[in-house]
Amino acid sequence: MGELPRHVAVIMDGNGRWAQRRLLPRSAGHSAGLKRMIALSEYFFHRGVEVVTLYALSQENLSRSQEELAALFALFRTYFSGNVERLKKNDLRLEVIGELSLLPEDIQTLIGEGRERTKEGKKGTLVLAIAYGARQDVVRAVNEAVKAGKEVTMESFSALLSTGAYPPLDLLIRTGREKRLSNFLLYEAAYAELYFSDKMFPDFSDADAERALEDYMTRDRRYGKVKAEEG
Ligand code: IPE
Ligand code: IPE
Ligand code: MG
Repeated sequence: MGELPRHVAVIMDGNGRWAQRRLLPRSAGHSAGLKRMIALSEYFFHRGVEVVTLYALSQENLSRSQEELAALFALFRTYFSGNVERLKKNDLRLEVIGELSLLPEDIQTLIGEGRERTKEGKKGTLVLAIAYGARQDVVRAVNEAVKAGKEVTMESFSALLSTGAYPPLDLLIRTGREKRLSNFLLYEAAYAELYFSDKMFPDFSDADAERALEDYMTRDRRYGKVKAEEG
């Protein structure tokens, strides 16, 4: 068995369909998704993963209905008001990536407070991607490099991305049956191992997460090289 991934990311997809199947409003799916998100991230940290990056809202998702966005924003408010203490108690650090200026101001303030209050966290980092878009992030990083008037290397460019401070992405999980990246961590995923689950996110259990970790540990990450001879 190989090593555990240091950095796991999850595209938490399928909340809406989870709700529709139960004849519930989409917001009920998001609410169930948030509950699952909290427990799932704790499971990954408990297993020894250092960084967990969760796709909570894409920049493109901001064009959903006012009703759905209001429900999502209400959940973010609940999360950031109620869960920061829990992260702190678990010695975890909270980070948020994405175009936060597109969010309501009170949520921006809550995010700032959450980051500040957990900045000493040493057991792991929870990175929430909110109003995030990978292409937008790449373009922003390019413009920063242009402004600095410096040619970039692969290393210096990675550092300009909003994930620049974290270890390389090892495992990228997507729930909800779709097999696409939907503008998440495009550059970072170059050599990440991909894992797709047909489960809708609220149904993606700790046992499912364990299966993804175990599957990852059987993978042979060659990075373009030829497999080393065994024995
Ligand atoms: C993912 O679930 C959560 C967000 C995008 C906010 P969806 O809302 O995309 O759920 P489905 O894909 O419609 O089932
Ligand atoms: C990706 O899911 C975004 C999140 C899970 C937060 P979407 O549901 O928005 O992706 P598409 O539209 O199916 O590509
Ligand atoms: Mg979806």
